[in-house]
Amino acid sequence: MDALHRIEALRAELHAHNHKYYVLASPSISDREFDVLLEELVQLESENPEAYDANSPTQRVGGDLTEKFEKVPHRHAMLSLSNSYKAEEVAQWAKRVQASLPGEEVEFAMELKYDGVAISLWYQNGALVRALTRGDGAVGEDVKTNVATIRTVPLKLLPGAPAELEIRGEIFFPWDAFNALNQLRKESGEQEFANPRNTAAGTLKLQDSRLVADRPLDCMLYNVDGGAMQELGVDCHSEAVRRAAAWGFRPPRGKSLEVATTVDGIMAFVQHWDKARRDLNFAIDGIVIKVNRYDHQKRLGNTAKSPRWALAYKFETERVRTALVDVKYQVGRTGAVTPVADLDPVQLGGTTVQHASLHNADQIAKLDLRIGDMVFVEKGGEIIPKVVGVDRETAHAEGLFAPPSLVFPSSCPECGAMLDRVEGEAQHYCVNTVDCPAQVRGRIEHFISRKAMNVEGLGKETVAQLVEAGLLRDVADLYALTADQLLPLERMAQKSVDNLLQGLAQSKAVPFERVLFALGIRHVGETVAKLLSRSLGSLEKVAHATVEEVVALEGIGPVIAESVVSQFADPVFQEVVERLVDVGIQTEVVPETPTGSALDGEVVVVSGVFATMSRDEAKSAVTAHGGRLVGSISSKTTMVLAGDNMGPSKLAKAEKLGVPIVDEDTFLARIQA
Ligand code: IVH
Repeated sequence: MDALHRIEALRAELHAHNHKYYVLASPSISDREFDVLLEELVQLESENPEAYDANSPTQRVGGDLTEKFEKVPHRHAMLSLSNSYKAEEVAQWAKRVQASLPGEEVEFAMELKYDGVAISLWYQNGALVRALTRGDGAVGEDVKTNVATIRTVPLKLLPGAPAELEIRGEIFFPWDAFNALNQLRKESGEQEFANPRNTAAGTLKLQDSRLVADRPLDCMLYNVDGGAMQELGVDCHSEAVRRAAAWGFRPPRGKSLEVATTVDGIMAFVQHWDKARRDLNFAIDGIVIKVNRYDHQKRLGNTAKSPRWALAYKFETERVRTALVDVKYQVGRTGAVTPVADLDPVQLGGTTVQHASLHNADQIAKLDLRIGDMVFVEKGGEIIPKVVGVDRETAHAEGLFAPPSLVFPSSCPECGAMLDRVEGEAQHYCVNTVDCPAQVRGRIEHFISRKAMNVEGLGKETVAQLVEAGLLRDVADLYALTADQLLPLERMAQKSVDNLLQGLAQSKAVPFERVLFALGIRHVGETVAKLLSRSLGSLEKVAHATVEEVVALEGIGPVIAESVVSQFADPVFQEVVERLVDVGIQTEVVPETPTGSALDGEVVVVSGVFATMSRDEAKSAVTAHGGRLVGSISSKTTMVLAGDNMGPSKLAKAEKLGVPIVDEDTFLARIQA
């Protein structure tokens, strides 16, 4: 078989395995076997650039940067749905539908109303060619490069699909992935995302598809272009969805698509899912009821805004009413002040809730809250419930004896320093970064945590005790602690003191990338710390890097770069870091492999696909041999390591700036020399 045929065969095979794994959740080969096939395809594609295909299974990892998404008119307007909230409203709608179709037996298809972002997928001859957002309903934006990273969206359809096909569905962020993402953001001192829907919308609009590939979005389809289906002899929606599953789309699972002929049947489906939705790994905000037969849909037609043949039934979010007992203001390690409501304990979604988030000052002002008010609390699936409203009917009395409105404090509840609010941000920060005990405790707790310095024998309470006793003012003080200081403290027996001091001594061996994370620089989470340390190599280099140098590193944006540079410019921070260095913490990346310095001084951009290594391996090879990685070509770049399929604009830029382009073989020869 020649290479081109083999490429085609591999692509078909990998598409099929991808479908079995992600769509049907029943893989027939091991991950390892899959990787072997994929590697073969990567290699062949790199040797045969003329066979490039934007829909190859090798394209799932993202890679393209989109400066501006193309605006494309929808073939049919993307309408919205009319909403209902009560069984009565559903009954009235069903009655109207029946009255417009006299003498006909009307069937209703019922499915989940996914709480995400609508997407219109266009396929031509089985290949995904566009993925349009709703936009204003008439014109959408083509976010195909980002949508291509979603494993449950087929890039190539299985045989039998119509030559032209439009399919609509919803893209959403599953709960587990959303919570994991927020956990990472929390660890890096970044503001957490509010809910999965907005995060899915924001993610789809990211310009760097590699970032999108890191966020496991998912997609469910809910509408197949009726025209194409009728040509295939399919005459109703429920059948069309099943048929689409045969072309590679995810089939509706379990009881997520059913057909009923009565309002009672519809309401039974609604009630089932109102409970069962708690067990889903994604958010749904209701049920969609659709007249099943296409000819019926056509006769009913659309209003300007929504089809007459469909209705959304919206669930009530589970919400309880309870008394607001107090509001506390928590100060985090970055100084961010978060208001937390103390509540009269109340049952919500199976747990007792006593605390709820009040978000920020704006939320408090908007609700005009007062202690004693009855408030509404909801749990969105996030771990922390939130106060979403106040019961105006029973809210505080007006007039002379009314309790005072809550006012967000103007000074830090922990240290009394002034609070500062960054223009355009809702968060307040305590300005006393150096001495505020809450920030000091927070920084130390972060420093000693498992993923940072992993200091054993030291917990939250002891930290609080040591800060209180004046023995710890910053993280470097940890290493100056002595048995004589510790022993007189409460709950500090000889054994605990030994454990603590030993834990501290051992932490000095923690690798530099974790030290960098432990320093608690805003926006520098685990991933960024790894990136920074691996590409710059040492504390010395990180501390002296300029914003331009940091921004040039792949995967790092201006906000992170600013944060790193300004943190190291702070004399107080510098002093703490110097003392840490003096006690012997790790300040350099220990190379994994014995390195040469074949690439010393080189500033390298890695682009394209390689035959003998993955792109990540190529990048590691660059840093392991003393080169510095940057994400985009500039006049400072000294070499482009070019695999196959390197983008034409990159190529042109390198040529224009006279940056040497080095191919894989030359590169390997150089580092192996
Ligand atoms: S049908 C012409 N079915 O809800 C009507 N929409 O409020 C096409 N949605 O923009 C929509 N799940 O993004 C339909 N099973 C489902 C849905 C669904 C979620 C979204 C969709 C639409 C919005 C309308």
